[in-house]
Amino acid sequence: MGRLAASILAADLAHLADEVKPIEPYADIIHIDIMDGHFVPPIALGTVVVASLRPWTTSELHGHLMVEAPEAHLEGLADAGLDVVSFHHEAVGDPEPVIAKARAAGMRTGVTLNLETPVEATFSYLDQLDDIMLMSIRPGWSGQELNPDVYPRIEAIRDEVDRRGLTIDVEIDGGVKVENAQRAVDAGATVLVSATGIFGATDKVEAARTLKEIASGGRASLPAREGTA
Ligand code: DX5
Ligand code: ZN
Repeated sequence: MGRLAASILAADLAHLADEVKPIEPYADIIHIDIMDGHFVPPIALGTVVVASLRPWTTSELHGHLMVEAPEAHLEGLADAGLDVVSFHHEAVGDPEPVIAKARAAGMRTGVTLNLETPVEATFSYLDQLDDIMLMSIRPGWSGQELNPDVYPRIEAIRDEVDRRGLTIDVEIDGGVKVENAQRAVDAGATVLVSATGIFGATDKVEAARTLKEIASGGRASLPAREGTA
């Protein structure tokens, strides 16, 4: 069953617990964007935010590391209460030792891909992952439009994951809203990450409820293939 991840980057961070509480019934995962000002231009959030939020929610905490040296932060994040950690394929030379280190620190582990990185880049270590996340925007900022190039990329990962019989989460991150969420699920995403789609909505609870419903409803149809659309 698909799940919803609420990305707090677009929340009112001065009242973070109050922002998270009302949507918690629908947000299986709280997605925390951690940026170092090097891998992406902005700096944002970090270990202290994970530690601050941990006592206020029972939802899974997922850290999306947009940092150049993820391995330096893994133990601190695990100690702060992070359940799942994702780092970028593009940020490391060899992802395998970083995956091993994250697991040794006690976290479920994922890799994230920018739109420009071929999904096949993950195939040599896909079996070692709990989660693969495909960016549908340029990382660093919330509030951008989803790039539809992500859909065939999700389909390609989904095909490979299914072909191998893996049960890992396939996430889409960026520009996900009520209007385009079903398309992402139909492509094969099992976790929808949304910041502005929830925290920028007039009715945040209703937006979270609808997105959760779409995520958990699963694929409405198989993706259209060339020649069959
Ligand atoms: C961007 C972050 C996303 C962001 C999504 O670097 O990884 O998680 O918060 O924001 P929206 O949903 O507004 O595109
Ligand atoms: Zn993110």
